[in-house]
Amino acid sequence: MEVLGIDIGGSGIKGAIVDTFKGAFVGERLRIETPQPAKPEPVADVVGRIVRHFSWKGPIGCTFPAVVQHGITRTAANVDDEWIDTDAQALFRAATGNPVLVLNDADAAGIAELQFGAGKDQRGLVVILTLGTGVGSAFFIDGVLIPNTEFGHLIIRGKDAEDRTSDRGRQENGYSWRKWGKYLSEHLRYIEALFTPDIFIIGGGVSKKYDKFIPHISCATKIVPAQLRNRAGIIGAAIAARELVQPSYCVQSEEASTTLPL
Ligand code: BGC
Repeated sequence: MEVLGIDIGGSGIKGAIVDTFKGAFVGERLRIETPQPAKPEPVADVVGRIVRHFSWKGPIGCTFPAVVQHGITRTAANVDDEWIDTDAQALFRAATGNPVLVLNDADAAGIAELQFGAGKDQRGLVVILTLGTGVGSAFFIDGVLIPNTEFGHLIIRGKDAEDRTSDRGRQENGYSWRKWGKYLSEHLRYIEALFTPDIFIIGGGVSKKYDKFIPHISCATKIVPAQLRNRAGIIGAAIAARELVQPSYCVQSEEASTTLPL
């Protein structure tokens, strides 16, 4: 089944049609600069432009880099404060004339990694961290997503952990890989102490440089790099939006479906 996936980030808004049963793009991806300031209306306009570019009629899955509760954006750690308590789903539905499901960006990336990437067939407790401008997290128990976990904002050494362990934090603070690895290890061990995951999957922009920091990571849990790179958000959002037309209680294919609150 084909679904349009859209990934809203701080610098770019990307869209592609996704074959959700293969976990692959159908054709090219389109990227448009995120308008600055990235307030709800101008962002919705860009979402509308992407939909028109693909002449898309059908379900749309859309990521957002904040807590998204039933389509309403609740936080704004790295985005404009006007998003707090905005009904993003209704806004994008109006801008596109299509059914839209909006979900947290890391949750979307996690859905894609669990179905087609580093977490394929992984049961038990899986934690995905995306390390980019912020630190996103996705938490799965036997393949079922617990949305909006926000482990990036755990307070460690009296500070929001993402200030140190995001890729932005690494660059802005000028940390060496060794020093950053020490902070990331602390962050991982904190999550480990709380939940005892079976595996950590590390995604986000910095996962391309996995070999540079992994030698400096110490924690007991198995760690693997994400596989779908910057396609994960678009693919995961599209998979999640399948639920708009095929509720999870309908058998859709031999694949497991991901249950998300709409
Ligand atoms: C936000 C998360 C988001 C992450 C990655 C964090 O600052 O709170 O909701 O998933 O950044 O974009």
